[in-house]
Amino acid sequence: MEVQEAMQKRRSVRKFTQEPVPEEAISLLLHAAMSGPSACNRMPWEFWVVTAGESLEALRKASRFTNHESKLAIVVAGNLSRALPMQLADYWIQDCSAATENILLQATELGLGAVWCGIYPQKRAEQRVRELLGLTEKQIPLNVIFLGYPAEAPEPRDQYQDKCVHWVR
Ligand SMILES: Cc1cc2nc3c(=O)[nH]c(=O)nc-3n(C[C@H](O)[C@H](O)[C@H](O)COP(=O)(O)O)c2cc1C
Repeated sequence: MEVQEAMQKRRSVRKFTQEPVPEEAISLLLHAAMSGPSACNRMPWEFWVVTAGESLEALRKASRFTNHESKLAIVVAGNLSRALPMQLADYWIQDCSAATENILLQATELGLGAVWCGIYPQKRAEQRVRELLGLTEKQIPLNVIFLGYPAEAPEPRDQYQDKCVHWVR
């Protein structure tokens, strides 16, 4: 699949079949994630691969917007002990976001559906995920990606808008 096709096909999928995602596919998703760029190549990301039913259930309750039933979730978190120092530390958010988008595009190529659900900076949601996974103070959950074989098929689309583009020439 061409990258352009994957970008347009990638839509948030929130309904999944019961079919489990094979480990080979999960491995490809994680390789895609860690192929992403990061500031000074610090790679301050960590990934929790969740397939346990009770934990998936708990992730669904992380926020008002995470109630998606799936057989697989990946929590993308930043580890501040590997982030850049001082005011550059916040680059972890961009680094982990790049990794997240790579997961979504790889999922699209594999015929999987996925939805990126933001956790940080929602304090209560962050606390719930933190407690569920036993994260340290340095580990900040950025999002939960629910994944699986899609039970709905949103239309591919191109959201280009001229008004969002500013040329300097
Ligand atoms: C930072 C971020 C947080 C999001 N949080 C949620 C969420 O909590 N729950 C959800 O169902 N979708 C969430 N989404 C998915 C967006 O709603 C979705 O990307 C947007 O409506 C555009 O639709 P599309 O992904 O199909 O192109 C989030 C997306 C991003 C990038």
